[in-house]
Amino acid sequence: MADETVQDEGANAQQAKYWNEVAGPKWVALSDSINGQIEPLGRVAIERAQIEVGHRVLDVGCGCGHSSIDLAERVGAQGRVEGLDLSEPMLAEARTRSAGMDNLSFAAADVQSHALDRAGYDRIFSRFGVMFFADPQAAFANLRSALRPTGRMTFVCWQEIAKNPWMAVPGAAAAKHVEMPPSPEPHAPGPFAFADAERTQGILEAAGFERVEVESLKQPLTIGRGLSDAQLVDFSLQMGPAGAAMREADEAQRSRLRASVAEAIEPYKADGGLVMDSAAWVFSAF
Ligand SMILES: C[S@@+](CC[C@H](N)C(=O)[O-])C[C@H]1O[C@@H](n2cnc3c(N)ncnc32)[C@H](O)[C@@H]1O
Repeated sequence: MADETVQDEGANAQQAKYWNEVAGPKWVALSDSINGQIEPLGRVAIERAQIEVGHRVLDVGCGCGHSSIDLAERVGAQGRVEGLDLSEPMLAEARTRSAGMDNLSFAAADVQSHALDRAGYDRIFSRFGVMFFADPQAAFANLRSALRPTGRMTFVCWQEIAKNPWMAVPGAAAAKHVEMPPSPEPHAPGPFAFADAERTQGILEAAGFERVEVESLKQPLTIGRGLSDAQLVDFSLQMGPAGAAMREADEAQRSRLRASVAEAIEPYKADGGLVMDSAAWVFSAF
């Protein structure tokens, strides 16, 4: 797979810009904390993917490579894992993290349109990396064509924001102090694009998958384990609607926003971080 430039053109140009310039550097800086939060959900999804030694696996929207490294350990030396992502800073972090692993490679690509090896993969996997496509049906049709006939695609994505207080609570606290950017359309590309499981199943079927299974995962997550109190506030201010509010706010609003988020997260302090409920879906498509 050759690297391609995904920053300036194509259907997902806006997402490419966001993940290269705004979110990517943030994810790299907070990589360990973010991974600590979502790793338990990723691990369930990897179990459901039924990875075997020798498999060739595609990790979609692989980000900083945490799940790709886990997958590469599972497929062993006879297998191969390829991570694709739009974000150069996150791919650079993934390459650094996996230095010395011979069965793992990363490339820059928009998965919606990238020419993938036809029937080339035993498994396609994604940990929260498939919700950002401008045209999800086209993207999943592209991925479907890359699966071997005996293959399966497994991904984990978020249920609605109201069931994910780790994002909703700081967002609501921020909304008290600044005019929030207009809410995106409910199914617009973004973390909650696939919250409606029935709609998501319909997209997968329209993309050519014959059988779709979905499982609900509801469990508390520890956010920012090991961070100081001040860092926990900073961390909460980086994510989702609170992060968008911070970008729009002036200096005076920022300090009010900080105080408001600090107060809102206080009751959740436990387990060396913030313990908050979460709800995600694990989809498997054949
Ligand atoms: C929420 S992050 C998840 C990253 C990683 N899978 C993890 O669990 O840490 C979403 C990732 O999807 C990537 N992404 C978004 N749209 C994409 C596309 N069209 N093609 C490839 N990657 C994409 C982003 O750059 C980002 O790294």
